[in-house]
Amino acid sequence: MPGQAAQPTPPDRPWLNRDLPPEARARAAVAAMTLDEKLRLVFGFSDQALTEVAKVPDDVVSPELKTYVVGHLVKGSAGFVPGVPRLGIPDQTQTDASMGVRNSFIPSTALPSSLATAASFDPAVPRAGGAMIGAEARATGHNTMLSGGINLAREPRNGRNFEYAGEDPLLAGTMVGALINGIQSNRIISTIKHYAVNDQETLRTSLDVTISAAAMRQSDLLAFELAIENSSPGSVMCSYNLINGRWGCENDYLLNTVLKHDWAYKGFVMSDWGAVHSTVGAANGGLDQFTGFCCKDDKPWFAPPAIKAALQSGAISQTRLDDMVERILWALFAKGPVDDPVKPMPIDYAANAAVSQKAAEESLVLLKNDGDLLPLRGVKSIAVIGGNADKGVLAGAGSSDVTPVGGAVMIDTHTYLPSPPLDALKRELPRARISFDPGTDLASAAALAARSDVVIVVVTRHNSEGSEASLEMVGNQDALVAAVAKANPKTIVVAETGGAIYMPWVGQVPAILEAFYPGIRGGDAIARILTGKVNPSGHLPISFPASPGQLARPEIAGLGQPDGTPAEVLYDEGAAIGYKWYDVKRYKPLFAFGRGLSYTRFALSDLRAQPDGKGIKVSFSIRNVGKHAGKGVAQVYVAPADWVKAGWEAPKRLGAFAKASLKPGKATQVDLMIDPRLLGTYEAAGNNWHRKPGTYRVLLGQSSDDQMRTADIDLPDNLWSASKQ
Ligand code: BGC
Repeated sequence: MPGQAAQPTPPDRPWLNRDLPPEARARAAVAAMTLDEKLRLVFGFSDQALTEVAKVPDDVVSPELKTYVVGHLVKGSAGFVPGVPRLGIPDQTQTDASMGVRNSFIPSTALPSSLATAASFDPAVPRAGGAMIGAEARATGHNTMLSGGINLAREPRNGRNFEYAGEDPLLAGTMVGALINGIQSNRIISTIKHYAVNDQETLRTSLDVTISAAAMRQSDLLAFELAIENSSPGSVMCSYNLINGRWGCENDYLLNTVLKHDWAYKGFVMSDWGAVHSTVGAANGGLDQFTGFCCKDDKPWFAPPAIKAALQSGAISQTRLDDMVERILWALFAKGPVDDPVKPMPIDYAANAAVSQKAAEESLVLLKNDGDLLPLRGVKSIAVIGGNADKGVLAGAGSSDVTPVGGAVMIDTHTYLPSPPLDALKRELPRARISFDPGTDLASAAALAARSDVVIVVVTRHNSEGSEASLEMVGNQDALVAAVAKANPKTIVVAETGGAIYMPWVGQVPAILEAFYPGIRGGDAIARILTGKVNPSGHLPISFPASPGQLARPEIAGLGQPDGTPAEVLYDEGAAIGYKWYDVKRYKPLFAFGRGLSYTRFALSDLRAQPDGKGIKVSFSIRNVGKHAGKGVAQVYVAPADWVKAGWEAPKRLGAFAKASLKPGKATQVDLMIDPRLLGTYEAAGNNWHRKPGTYRVLLGQSSDDQMRTADIDLPDNLWSASKQ
């Protein structure tokens, strides 16, 4: 960690001199490397290599390299890239992902899903979470985390939406940037992923996405651009899919033109596991590091013999190879792994669980609370029904699946984290009589509901990498809610879901708490919110559609076909994702983006907007006008007088947001900036952002469908380059 006594740097090893800038150190190290040493850094292994690499022919992976990999790989991790011990360059030890360290042999602390922490609308939450999981990564011997995920929730059924930060580029860019900052504060590398437009899991390795450059730059790519600016991640993971006919990991436009040229990105591009399709095309298309090789049947696209042959034929230049290596080294120098090598350390799991609990408490979203049924006060008997609420809280599945401290509870192949809401409620309300019914038998659940003062019914929706999640609840859960609500109108629904769901029973229940996947102390967070120990303050980072007819694509492209089947999808909604799509279509969603209730109320006033550079400076006041201390979320949207004429994808965009913690009666003044890019459109012809002249309306509210305060502002024409070069 920082603060270790600096070793004197031998003059012939300038790359180890901490006083030099990382660029200079990287260049010096490249100059000192042999070709074989360079080739080590661009070719990574998955942990299966431990048992499988021995079977790979020696002319693909040399016996020396095999021995090194098997001797140094962190068992159970996601990946490994051999270092160069002769030069003091460490191995890269890679672990998934955004909810915590994923290592099947090492227990770790699971944060709430990234979608949940995005709902906090407070970057301090993912920042603290990132710092915590990054510390666990370091303490367990990993110097590279494969997080954060930032693909926009363009497809509400995407099975991985829980790993991402919602549907809005500003919110996602801010929250994922904060997560990465937290992770990298541990002097390790973080990896933003999956670049780009990898917005559905169906046919994820074979789908070709057609989308215009303008639409990408204003949506999916803007989220990446903002997060990268906010956090400078050491690496970017390119995605499995094709974008406009080119694979993500050899997409010259995305990797070379946008990322490395226009955004002046200095770090390296690593492939998703198995996402590489060529040697020359990938290297020249912008890929710097192949990851996840293990087995004799894997295509060794970046194995030493393949790159050597391409160098020899001139298909890959020496300059390009040096650039690949320099970028990887830049990340290793700039982010810390060289100067502060990772080593096993004790972990304070109790303190880390408290970080996760706090994150959940800031993030769960109270969607409905008719008649102030919540918080529960003075209730004598409570029925808790369904959702395996006696066993734990649900987690998502796939490469982000953490092995939780305390052990996972496996039910029907789904992972539950050991924090049962039932136990937590009993702790919070020791005098209440709290009974549980699993909800499998509707009559028995309804009978318990009828003889209880209040009912909490927990519904769950399992999401996983590699497949989509239908928005309908599975099994008897909808019928269960309806039956229970009929038996007792004081029914509260707690939804543990990876993303949006349909709620056919929405009108039958007075209270709904969206708990997402709430992490290793999720049960405690749920109980503390339901009982009012914590005032809810999360707001939806995604829209909840009311029905399938509201989706941009009624059918997921390729649904039902096996992954690998070539298919195309046209994203003709362009940048109109989520609430923007609903606004364009004038649909009323079930719950709009930005929605979230509190046990107190907030009033917004004194809105002012003025031009500031290319952007807009906004100021306003937020006051707690209710009876309880709480946290209010103010959302600033911006809308041109005529959005079609202005070339916008939708009538309004989120321009800024802030969360304020206020005691009853107290107010605070908030000043925010609206980024110029959120006022303009991207013009591919000149590679420019263009803000058209005219009147722009600044709207201030507490959700995207709120009755907003407004201020109008006239702005002149403005055109500026989208390239930082
Ligand atoms: C996932 C990545 C993950 C990698 C390594 C891939 O299947 O798409 O998100 O980081 O595996 O586990």
